[in-house]
Amino acid sequence: MHRPALTGSGVFTPADTITNDELVTSFNAYVERFNTDNAAEITAGRATALQPSSSEFIHKASGIEQRYVMDKAGVLDPARMYPRLDQRGDDQPSIMAEMSLDAANKALLQAGRRGAEVDLIICAASNMERAYPAISIEVQQLLGATGFAFDMQVACSSATFGIQAAADMIRSGSARRALVISPEITSGHLEWRDRDCHFIFGDVCTAVLIEPLDTAMGRGFEIVSTKCATQYSNNIRNNEGYLRKTRPDGLADRRDMQFMQNGRRVFKEVLPMVCDHILTHLSDSELSASQIKRLWLHQANKTMNDFIGRKVLGRDPLPGEQPNILQDYANTSSAGSIIAFDAFHADLQAGDLGLICSFGAGYSVGSVITRAF
Ligand code: COA
Repeated sequence: MHRPALTGSGVFTPADTITNDELVTSFNAYVERFNTDNAAEITAGRATALQPSSSEFIHKASGIEQRYVMDKAGVLDPARMYPRLDQRGDDQPSIMAEMSLDAANKALLQAGRRGAEVDLIICAASNMERAYPAISIEVQQLLGATGFAFDMQVACSSATFGIQAAADMIRSGSARRALVISPEITSGHLEWRDRDCHFIFGDVCTAVLIEPLDTAMGRGFEIVSTKCATQYSNNIRNNEGYLRKTRPDGLADRRDMQFMQNGRRVFKEVLPMVCDHILTHLSDSELSASQIKRLWLHQANKTMNDFIGRKVLGRDPLPGEQPNILQDYANTSSAGSIIAFDAFHADLQAGDLGLICSFGAGYSVGSVITRAF
């Protein structure tokens, strides 16, 4: 059995940002337009007037200050409220493959490896640009990698579930060098016209390289252990799918084809699940929270992360102990905890323990205990 290690990480960040103020200005213009266009229906009680959003609410409720997106103009156009992404020809690289390539090359560079040395690619994300061929197989070809590749979807927990799958394959020897890539075009499944959630998501792509500890070229993080868990819930849901055209209303623009959540219930139900999961993972690994130098948590909500940090550590986290990136990136689904890891790991000393944890729809929660070397 080999001991798996994370030897490189990389992040692709889109060029376009949207601040809360920019988002709210365009959302409120949409609301005004909707209320004017539907004034008669609203007065007659047959339609409900939309309420404006506010930057203060967004920051207070979530901690988010801005987000990166693949297309700013489409999202901020009050007549559209949706990104505009070109249809690419079948012989051109897909958008997700391009994002993946950038993040993967950064991870490979950090690990001192080339694409040709990779023999497993897992594309682990909450949505795929197409059903098949797998995005991961396209990335395999673009990188000149060998072996095999597959896509997997576990919503916000995709990256940690992908890391567990890759680490287990490195352990058993069925793969020698694995990339776990999480391209998230969340702007494509967010309902930008719903004030309850229009501020939540952002786009990004992360990649991590996993290989046997004894072949690592430089510094890195041994993957000490991983733990994944799921428990069915409808509180975060997206009903988009390949059977859509078979429904009576066909391709009609239905609200439930975009991201839907009952945020308050998610808060109430997911928090205890995550805290219990992390503490059980630590005790199963004969470790205590006091030995953990850094928590790289899923990046959905600042209050949520503050709560988890306090519950797991048994005290307020020290500055830098539980870094957030959600103020800059918003919720990037599966990529969030990996962006935090990528940005905040360089100062850890050999032997320092850390824990990556993601959670979300399913419900699902995945954690990875790391030891720096
Ligand atoms: N601007 C102004 N007011 C808003 C608003 C906005 N954009 N969106 C909602 N409000 C209002 C609501 O209508 C509500 O008003 P009411 O009290 O008069 O009914 C009030 O603000 C509170 O709304 P609520 O939705 O209960 O806010 P919240 O404090 O629960 O925060 C979330 C909302 C989404 C930030 C929060 O629930 C959350 O982060 N949940 C967990 C989400 C999560 O992790 N999901 C995983 C996704 S992968």
